[in-house]
Amino acid sequence: MTNSPIFDRIHRAIEQRKATMQLRSIPQYTDNNFIDLSTNSYLSLHCNASVLENARALTSQKYYGNLASRLVSEQSPLFSVLEQEIASWEQTECALLFNSGYAANVGILQALCTKDTEVFCDRLNHASIYDGIILSGAKLNRYRHCDMKELEERLKASCSKEKLIITDTVFSMDGDRAPLADICTLAKKYNCLIMVDEAHASGIFGNCANGLCEEDGVSDFVDIRMGTLSKSIAGLGGYCAVKSEFRDYFINFCRSFIYSTALPHPVLAHNISAIRFIRANPASGKQLLSMADSFRTGLHELGFSTLDSTTQIVPCLMESEEKALSLSAFLRNNGIIVPAIRPPTVPKGTARLRFSIFLGLTADKQHYILEQIKKWKSSL
Ligand SMILES: Cc1ncc(COP(=O)(O)O)c(C=O)c1O
Repeated sequence: MTNSPIFDRIHRAIEQRKATMQLRSIPQYTDNNFIDLSTNSYLSLHCNASVLENARALTSQKYYGNLASRLVSEQSPLFSVLEQEIASWEQTECALLFNSGYAANVGILQALCTKDTEVFCDRLNHASIYDGIILSGAKLNRYRHCDMKELEERLKASCSKEKLIITDTVFSMDGDRAPLADICTLAKKYNCLIMVDEAHASGIFGNCANGLCEEDGVSDFVDIRMGTLSKSIAGLGGYCAVKSEFRDYFINFCRSFIYSTALPHPVLAHNISAIRFIRANPASGKQLLSMADSFRTGLHELGFSTLDSTTQIVPCLMESEEKALSLSAFLRNNGIIVPAIRPPTVPKGTARLRFSIFLGLTADKQHYILEQIKKWKSSL
């Protein structure tokens, strides 16, 4: 081992995280007896018998591992089946598959933007969006969360020729929704491209359950609709639903697409099967949202704020990081898994528990969870 100063820096960073109670660690594997509100499998499709059976049917003839980047050689017919399924679901000309939602955002933004592009980005957008913007060298212009007045002021003041507005449609830590219609109006007025991240909305919102753009009637005004196959779809991968020229461009210029081995065949089979299941059962999302409404009401009755959440993601704001950790540990001891989310993942002073509501969270289970929270509160 050398005496590199990098060792010292790493040691100091970890000690600082420990001192401020912000050290992240990987939770231990737990069995199925817990009520698990930590996953993004909102529709419980990771353990859906019909999704599994249909995925198995797609993999039955031949078993493929993952062998190469798609530009080197396409190793499964299921890539094009999945992309056609997504394009038909999203009602777009075509779709392009990435290895994860993270790889999709980073790759698309790196390819789309240059140092001459100004990107107007909601402050609470996902980290992968920020990473893509940084990688592209574009000018980052962050506007206050969902604040359309400030976005317009920033657009008005901009001299950049190339402008892009980018937003999550459902925000992953606050569970609120972007004002998509207003964003589309501003984009038109100031001649901007629009890209949205539907990670937490696809499978849930809209008549075809393909996302919030559909629900809000703005799909035709959004240039790039990106989504992930790792949340409601409970598989793996990311995608964009776009016109064919964008697809051709991304295939040629997205480094995360070009320089990475593609997804294995069984994962593609699960993704196809889960999307088909969602398309055949598009009302599940509405049912989920109504369950989330009643859980939010329960938290409000106990005196907690759920911020502006109106979706299946229900934050429960805590007074301090210590209290967030304490409630999370108390619930775990009582068979309930809910992560405490703390800075730097969320802004300072907004530590919270993040409840991911899922189909299967019955009224009895909701009642039990709320009772445990009440007990914890009265023990303080
Ligand atoms: C809004 C948003 N976009 C993108 C991603 C990345 O997706 P994936 O987990 O498929 O890489 C996430 C996942 O946490 C997310 O919440």
